[in-house]
Amino acid sequence: MIDLTTYQPLGDKKNSAFFEEYLPKIYERREGAGLADIVGEMAAVVIQVEHGDAVNYLAELAVMGPYRLVDSRLIETHRVFMLRSQPAFPRLIVLEPLTATYEDETTRWNELYPLSRPKRNARYIGEVYRARSVEAVREALEPQNIRFVYEGDQENPFFCLPHLTFTFLSDFTYNRVGYVDVDLDDDLGAIGLDEELTLPPADVKRIESAAELQASHGIDGLVLGLDHMATRILAGEREDAILEYLTMVPYYFWGAYNIEEMNSSTNVTRHPNVDDDKKSPARVFTANNTPSFVNSFDGLPMPTEDFVRNFGRRMHHMAYAVTDGHVATEKNVDYVVRELRELGTEFLAHVVGECKDEPNLKQIFSKASPYSLLITEYVERCHGYEGFFTRHNVAALTAAAGEAERYEHGHVFD
Ligand SMILES: [Fe+2]
Repeated sequence: MIDLTTYQPLGDKKNSAFFEEYLPKIYERREGAGLADIVGEMAAVVIQVEHGDAVNYLAELAVMGPYRLVDSRLIETHRVFMLRSQPAFPRLIVLEPLTATYEDETTRWNELYPLSRPKRNARYIGEVYRARSVEAVREALEPQNIRFVYEGDQENPFFCLPHLTFTFLSDFTYNRVGYVDVDLDDDLGAIGLDEELTLPPADVKRIESAAELQASHGIDGLVLGLDHMATRILAGEREDAILEYLTMVPYYFWGAYNIEEMNSSTNVTRHPNVDDDKKSPARVFTANNTPSFVNSFDGLPMPTEDFVRNFGRRMHHMAYAVTDGHVATEKNVDYVVRELRELGTEFLAHVVGECKDEPNLKQIFSKASPYSLLITEYVERCHGYEGFFTRHNVAALTAAAGEAERYEHGHVFD
């Protein structure tokens, strides 16, 4: 348990006087509103894919990570798929519109950006947290100007159900936060998802074969749950995005590091009282240090700002923790990556970081999924390394991702 009144955030990224003033005020206001009693750990993450992509995405998830399909439901506008890794870790919910012409605010925001336009409904939507009651959440957060989706506002009924509520898309992250007050394993009917969906046998087979393929390559069991998810935001909105998130969930500002070589910073928020981060994964915010229009003064790199300009503010990657150890003489993450490459998964560059005698991290980014547009990161913490990144690794990963996220228009390359 962390005492937020005395905790000193880690890292060397300087925050403004505004941030220093409001961070403790937000913690204090949370205390007054009883947020930590009302909102608990992360229950699920929600990802929407384009119409027709769900089965391919579920198969991709089964090859690349620990998530397995456990339930499928039908609502007015979407197919809803519930996936599970380990019982104590968050569920993964995949939403797939029933028609190619489906449109809501997610579609409209995707259409604003050149590289997200081709997959107009593909977006990481947000996290769902366990709550004592959705009414209590609204009562606590509405006076703090957090906006929720109300009956009649929504095109997708999933975002406004009696036991599941979501905020508006954040203007700073384009993500939502959801709150659920029933057990997602118990009965999806209880949250209003009462129509069961039976997938055609060929689709079931395709997803199961993907899982079997993963097992036959010895990857299952090595890739554990979600370690962290990282949102990319504009340079000028870094502090607002973090403080807004800390208003809505009982996380704390763990620390922020300046990644000088990439002209960006990595900012980490975590749950203060879980014994394993995978039970309520860290939420990371990455932002350029300067806005794009001043970058040419110093000729600095700006892959993070370019990503946001090309795709819009959005979740950039989900990271899975790889259990620390060896397969024969190979570190687990090297083994997993080599086997996944054999199965056709493409990666950006190579595994970075070394695991020798000291605590350290080995990490790698996959190429972005064609279905979710998310990169998958694999991270192995060696010798009990506590942090989420090393400066050297992040610089290398950011550079590798930046190469793949360029948008070519005329003779200007982002
Ligand atoms: Fe990461």
